[in-house]
Amino acid sequence: MPQGIEISYVVYDSTDLDQTEAFMQDFGLVTAERTSEMLYMRGAGTVPYLYVARRAARDGFAGAALDMARREDLDAVARLPGASAVEPNPGPGGGQRVRMTTPDGVPIDAVWGREPAPPIALRAPNPYNWGTAKNRVNASLRPKRAPGLVMRLGHFGLRVSDHGQSVAWFRERFGMVDSDYLCVPGDESRVVGTFLRFDRGAALVDHHSMLITQSKDARDTGVHHHSYEMQDIDELFGAHDHLLARGRELECGVGRHLVGSQIFDYWRDPFGNRVEHYTDGDVANDAYQPVRYAVAADDTTQWGMDPPRTFFD
Ligand SMILES: [Fe+2]
Repeated sequence: MPQGIEISYVVYDSTDLDQTEAFMQDFGLVTAERTSEMLYMRGAGTVPYLYVARRAARDGFAGAALDMARREDLDAVARLPGASAVEPNPGPGGGQRVRMTTPDGVPIDAVWGREPAPPIALRAPNPYNWGTAKNRVNASLRPKRAPGLVMRLGHFGLRVSDHGQSVAWFRERFGMVDSDYLCVPGDESRVVGTFLRFDRGAALVDHHSMLITQSKDARDTGVHHHSYEMQDIDELFGAHDHLLARGRELECGVGRHLVGSQIFDYWRDPFGNRVEHYTDGDVANDAYQPVRYAVAADDTTQWGMDPPRTFFD
């Protein structure tokens, strides 16, 4: 089975690339390349870009790409029904890609071989003085209300017409495995959402790189949100205050999720697309045992601001 290792990037259509770029810069991404038609943005480290916006007549989600572990994995994906041949991947860093669409028609590319970009340094995690363990002695913290710097694209969520079919599609093409399940409240036998992670054996990976959820209306499918990791809670709260000061639209946050445990903060971009900052999420390996969560919507937030009803549509 072909094996993926990471989410490479998400792609959005935008009627106004200037507005999109300004928002994502407030959000903590850095412009990697910009033309009149395309916007490529990156975070810290050496990944050439995490987020792509294309100038278009309509705003909205236009797909995503997942990195494959090896060239052989990309070739294996290209042999599957409905896949394109291997072709050059446009954008900074190049590489190769295979184009596909999910059962609901969402474009998903498999990517391999992007060239690393010159690194953008990330500040070290802040040393916190816990109740019983003091890590900062004769020193002070001075976090800023600033965009901060996004580290990486952590995950995205898809609302789909047939949950089982879409989960199988990602398992078969990217070797993803189930971390946890969302079930109908009170009924563990009826799964309506699956948190998927990449399978790297004993190595630790994010608890989920994708969340697939059953849409209540089979005609209303697409992205739920895309989500970026921040170094620590100071980075996340500093960005929160900065986004508020810039007049950006908060959806819900700050809070701590139940499944995956992340400290979350959800925003809407100028076109209504939902985008998340998170920090302190769970990591897992092949020793992890999936859990079935048959809980009410409000119980998916452990503390902090509960999402509005529309979050769960
Ligand atoms: Fe998320």
